[in-house]
Amino acid sequence: MSSLAVLHTSQLVTVAGPNRPRIGGEMSDLAIIRDGGMLIRDGKIDIVGSSDAIEKNAGDGEIIDVAGRVVMPGFVDAHAHPVFVGNRLDDFERRAKGETYEQIAAAGGGIWSTVEKTRAANETNLFEQSKTHANWFLKCGTTTVEAKSGYGLTVEDELKILRVIRRLNEETPIEFIPTFLGAHAVPREWRQSEYVDLVINEMLPRVASENLAEFCDVFCEHGYFDVEQSRKILGAAKKLGLRLRIHADQLSNSGGAKLAGELKATTADHLEKTDGQGIGAMKSANVQPVLLPGSVYALGSACYPRAREMIETGLAVVIATDFNPGSSPSPSMPMMLSLACTQMKMSPAEALTASTINAACTLGRGDMIGSLEPGKLANFSTFDCEDYRELAYWFGFSQADSVYVRGERVWSGGLRSSAKN
Ligand code: NIG
Ligand code: FE
Repeated sequence: MSSLAVLHTSQLVTVAGPNRPRIGGEMSDLAIIRDGGMLIRDGKIDIVGSSDAIEKNAGDGEIIDVAGRVVMPGFVDAHAHPVFVGNRLDDFERRAKGETYEQIAAAGGGIWSTVEKTRAANETNLFEQSKTHANWFLKCGTTTVEAKSGYGLTVEDELKILRVIRRLNEETPIEFIPTFLGAHAVPREWRQSEYVDLVINEMLPRVASENLAEFCDVFCEHGYFDVEQSRKILGAAKKLGLRLRIHADQLSNSGGAKLAGELKATTADHLEKTDGQGIGAMKSANVQPVLLPGSVYALGSACYPRAREMIETGLAVVIATDFNPGSSPSPSMPMMLSLACTQMKMSPAEALTASTINAACTLGRGDMIGSLEPGKLANFSTFDCEDYRELAYWFGFSQADSVYVRGERVWSGGLRSSAKN
């Protein structure tokens, strides 16, 4: 049996606790062990404790001395759109000149321009660009990524994207969890109601029968899919056994959070414009809010979601990158921690819980990842700092030193290890 002992962390941020999403004050408890260590056997965590205790149990297995770094669970990014071709530099420049996301979309930019490029790519080229994105996530300390389709918008192109997600899962160290987002925008060639029928009658059955997605998502927003259409699509997905996530109330308070409550969705995401009623609806149905401060920041808005009110209401808040070429071109969870603390007034500990165990629970994997506890996968990252709060405090560069998945080092290149010696 192969074993690995990780010793001499400054802080081993275990996030140990109840096997469920953390709420209220629980979000502030990271169960940190100073000078902590872990014994890993066959890719799983066997013992967690003081470095002294771990060293005594290490036997003749491999030992890694992390020399006073912070060690924490790999980030779990519960909302991303990583499979696409090209970028949106023109949109970016137009926004800098004052145009809005909606104006640019109406003028032929936006989601549609990425759809055209993604449709034109073959599966191999799409995989190659998406693999580059996978490496970006890894370098920031992320080991699990929820991945949405949504830049194909034809039966074949949506399936192509979902197959690329499957391949990313098989051929990169990151675990990618697939979500079908055929209802991301209405393509030019379709009338709205007919496209909704195509999603329900042709796309969803293929996605389900080919087992290509665990979740179904809809962009519920004026000009995209209204509440009625979103309800129809998500209802059909639920019948096919998919669990639900919803892009809700991002640009307007359009009833997305309430619909998430009504359908008992797993998550409602964005929520920039959600009011107290929406928050109440999520609470009564145990929906987890996924907050995406990167898209608020990148769109140049000041309207961040009401994170404090959600935490105080007892919702198990999650933060994620929303990585995509249009509204959030950042794969960096540490950047999201920074935004969560500076813009949404979450504490560094709450932000860390929101990006590990709470995120893992939305993906149905709270029993395997998201904390460093015996029996869980040894997915963890080491950071070139001594205090976990530094992850949210310093911003604009990565402090990640090494990343491990199932006890194997899958990336390394941190600040100290690249120094002259
Ligand atoms: O989550 N809001 C819808 N989807 C993405 C944006 C996609 C894009 O602009 O390409 C989001 O912000
Ligand atoms: Fe999104």
